Amino acid sequence: MIVVLIGYMGSGKSTLGKELARSLSYSFLDLDDYIAEKETASISEIFKSKGEIYFRKKETEYLNEVINSSENIVLALGGGTPCYSNNMPLLINNTNVKSFYLKLSIPLLVDRLFTEKEKRPLISHLTSKEDLTEFIGKHLFERSQYYSQSQYMINTDRKTQLEILDELKAQLI
Ligand code: S3P
Repeated sequence: MIVVLIGYMGSGKSTLGKELARSLSYSFLDLDDYIAEKETASISEIFKSKGEIYFRKKETEYLNEVINSSENIVLALGGGTPCYSNNMPLLINNTNVKSFYLKLSIPLLVDRLFTEKEKRPLISHLTSKEDLTEFIGKHLFERSQYYSQSQYMINTDRKTQLEILDELKAQLI
């Protein structure tokens, strides 16, 4: 089975994914890390030298590769992965995949991302919390329609990591 974690940048896909994989004895894979390894460049470098369109093409290509694995994997997607190409239908129509949208409110995303924006090319140019709030508000509005197609949605606001993991695992039994 492939457990796919979906959500905006900073929603905890990688942190929670690692813990979930550990407790299920699954492998953990972060799609961004996988892309960076295959392309031998960081995500920021890929955006800078080859552009976003190239990145999205590779993202879809590597997602297809990973999703067809016969291993048990917890896979953390990039925040934009579900919103491009036919990535979301690919996940929904695969009976081997369980998809979870980790939903976090805008103020909490802003707080988290403000200190972590350097390695994220889409937001690294935003210098104030106000600008970041406006950007995330619009961006999340556009992206929600894709994220909401996930099989399960978990609201993670004000929940501990343990509580979120319990909710995730409850859907996997
Ligand atoms: C992106 C999110 C990033 C990474 C890239 C683009 C996006 O992943 O894939 O910078 O479009 O939201 P994280 O969600 O892991 O930060």
